[in-house]
Amino acid sequence: MKILLTGGAGFIASHICDRLISEGHEVVVIDNLSTGRLELLNPRAYFYQLDLCDPAIALVFQIEKPELVIHHAAQVSVSNSQENPVFDAVNNIIGSLNLYENCRQYKVKKIIYASSAAIYGEPLYLGIDEKHPVKPLSFYGLSKYLAEIYLRYYAGLFGLKFTILRYANVYGPRQRSDGEGGVIAIFLSSLLKGEAPMIFGQGEQSRDFIYVADIVEANIQALTRAENEVLNLGTGKELSINQLYASIEALLCSQLQPVYVPERPGDIMHSYFDQRKAAELLDWKASYPLQEGLRKTIEYMS
Ligand SMILES: NC(=O)c1ccc[n+]([C@@H]2O[C@H](COP(=O)([O-])OP(=O)(O)OC[C@H]3O[C@@H](n4cnc5c(N)ncnc54)[C@H](O)[C@@H]3O)[C@@H](O)[C@H]2O)c1
Repeated sequence: MKILLTGGAGFIASHICDRLISEGHEVVVIDNLSTGRLELLNPRAYFYQLDLCDPAIALVFQIEKPELVIHHAAQVSVSNSQENPVFDAVNNIIGSLNLYENCRQYKVKKIIYASSAAIYGEPLYLGIDEKHPVKPLSFYGLSKYLAEIYLRYYAGLFGLKFTILRYANVYGPRQRSDGEGGVIAIFLSSLLKGEAPMIFGQGEQSRDFIYVADIVEANIQALTRAENEVLNLGTGKELSINQLYASIEALLCSQLQPVYVPERPGDIMHSYFDQRKAAELLDWKASYPLQEGLRKTIEYMS
């Protein structure tokens, strides 16, 4: 199948790109390389360095005629979104809208959209299922959600089929380790440099950490399943930052103690997903044990 993949030079979608190509699909990537890197891009993908808002993406649809679109390109920084909500909205809402409009014009069969746990805001109960109220705490969460709503309008008004995948905290090789990366990449990067990482608050806050290969597998299953469905993708388990740190410390045989600093205002205390709907509709389960995912990430970063 010919698949258009947005954000294919970034962390998660570059892994999806590799898997699609290894399964014999033709992959066309659109990425503006704002956070993506050319070295992550599979050389067998057809690459267009373009911003999602660029009207020239119509030419990509015209030339390539993709059957299906997997949409991962986004401004992904929560702090950037708070500092510059307009930039966030242009990338995540207007960029998505320009993409959907081309999907409509060029009669794309289906779009898979990567959304986020950030749309839920402070959890009212755990594990968070798809019926949990949506009340994002950041402009990033809001823009990711509004792009979902636009997609549902495109489905309702024009019959564009979709699967919305809401990701928990994804980690793995290729994730950025600067301030905007995930906590695992940040911890590993510090420890591998022999520096003590910072932990905000007491470290008892917990998250649902899912390995990138499990996310890739869910996207592969969604190519042919879960039409017009919204699914939470997580492990269904919570892990505290202290527990995470202890696992990493043990794997690296490090003696470095973390530095505890005051908690960040607005940080959520606990969050994990109920993954049962995704398990049922995608015939899928997050299957990578944490130790194995961490080991692979360490291997990549060393
Ligand atoms: N990493 C996570 O834990 C996580 C969790 C939930 C949801 N997500 C979602 O998954 C997707 C991928 O995230 P990631 O962690 O791989 O981030 P990433 O920054 O590595 O990847 C995003 C890619 O999109 C490209 N891009 C950004 N804005 C663009 C634009 N306007 N036009 C074209 N290309 C653009 C970037 O250059 C980059 O290659 C995002 O949609 C994000 O919201 C990620």
